Amino acid sequence: MKLSTKIIHSGLGGDQKPTGSVITPIFQTSTYVQKSPGKNLGYEYSRSANPTRKALEKNISSIENARYGFCFGSGMAAIDGILRLLRPGDEIICSNDIYGGTFRLFNQIYAKQQYKFIFSDLQSTVELEKLHNKRTKMIWIETPSNPMMNIIDIKMVTDFTKKKKILTVVDNTFASPFLQNPIDYGADIVTHSATKYLGGHSDVVLGSAVTNKKKIADELYLIQKSCGAIPGPMDCFLTLRGIKTLHIRMERHCYNAKKIAEFLTNHKMIEKVFWPGLKSHPNHKIAKKQMRDFGGMISFKLKKNSLSLAKKFLSNLKLFTLAESLGGVESLISHPSSMTHASLSDDLKEKNNITDSLIRISVGIENHEDLINDLSKSFNKLK
Ligand SMILES: Cc1ncc(COP(=O)(O)O)c(C=O)c1O
Repeated sequence: MKLSTKIIHSGLGGDQKPTGSVITPIFQTSTYVQKSPGKNLGYEYSRSANPTRKALEKNISSIENARYGFCFGSGMAAIDGILRLLRPGDEIICSNDIYGGTFRLFNQIYAKQQYKFIFSDLQSTVELEKLHNKRTKMIWIETPSNPMMNIIDIKMVTDFTKKKKILTVVDNTFASPFLQNPIDYGADIVTHSATKYLGGHSDVVLGSAVTNKKKIADELYLIQKSCGAIPGPMDCFLTLRGIKTLHIRMERHCYNAKKIAEFLTNHKMIEKVFWPGLKSHPNHKIAKKQMRDFGGMISFKLKKNSLSLAKKFLSNLKLFTLAESLGGVESLISHPSSMTHASLSDDLKEKNNITDSLIRISVGIENHEDLINDLSKSFNKLK
C-alpha cells in the first residue's frame, strides 16, 4: 500500500470487535460498515443511531422508569423535538413559571406558527377545566419550576389529561430522576436538560425525552433522525459518566440546600425563601407526596428590591460562581431577572414575581458551612 492508503487504513478496521471495555466507548464515527447493501450490524449512520448515544438513551429511560429514550443536542432541542409532535392550531396549556428559554421558544418561535400557549399556575382541576377546549393537545409543566420553585401536582394534571385524551409533558430538570419520576404519576413524556443534574459537572450541553408509549416513541424517533438535533458521542459519553454519581451528588445537593435554606430563612436581610422543603412553602405537601427529597435549587428575595444591592451581594461572593445554568457539583448563583429570564417582558416578570431582588442558587456539593460563611460575609458587607 502507498502512504496515502496506509494513512487511511492501517491499524483500523470498519468492523470493530468488542474489546471487553468496562465503560461504553466514545463511538466517534459518522457511518458504519455494511456487509452488503442494506445489511449492517444495527447501525448505519450516526444521525439515526450511535452506540454511545444509544447507551445513554437506555440509561436515561431506565432511571426515569420509561421504555423509550431519545437524546438531543440540548435541553431546548429536546423541547423543540417534543413540540414537533403537535400541529399549527393546537393549544398548549403551560405552567407560567418556566425556564426563560422554553418561554422564548414557545412565544417567539412556535407562537408565530399558529401554536397557542396558555400560561397559568395549574394549581387545580377547576382551573384546567376552564383553560381546556377542543384544540388543547398538551399540558406542559415544570416542577419544581424555574426560578420560583413552584410545585405542580403531577397526578392531578395527568388524571385530567387522561380524561381529555391529551398529553402531559413534564420538564424534570430541577428534580432529576433521583428525586421524582413523573412517568410513575402518569406523565406521557419526561424531558431533561441533561446539561444540569444528569451531566452534573457543567461540562456538557445535552437534552433528553423519554416515554412509555410506543406511538409517541416512534414519532419522537422520526423527529430525532429527520430533524437531526442529536448530541455527539463525546457529549453522550460525558453525560453517561456524570449520571454514574447522580444519586450520591443529589443526596449532598439536597442536604446542603436544606442547611442553606434554613440559614436564609433566619436572615434578617431576606424577605422570602423559595425552597419546597420548607414547611412555609405553599406546595410543601405536594412536594412531599411526589418528590423523595426537595432538591438543590433555592431562590430568595432580599428585603430591599434594589438591583444595585442584588448586584453588590452577588459580586461579594467568593465560592458561589455568578453564572447561568445549574446542577453542577460547584455552587452557582444567578440573577434571574437579568440572566436566565431576561427574555421575559417586564409585565411577565412582574406577574411571575421575578423582581430585581430575586436571587437563585444552585447549591453545589461543597462543605455547607463554607457555603454559608460565604453568603454570610456577603450579607455583612451590605450593611
Ligand atoms: C428547566 C429547564 N429546562 C430546559 C432548559 C434548557 O436546557 P439547555 O440549556 O440544555 O438547552 C433549561 C436550561 O436552563 C432549564 O433550566
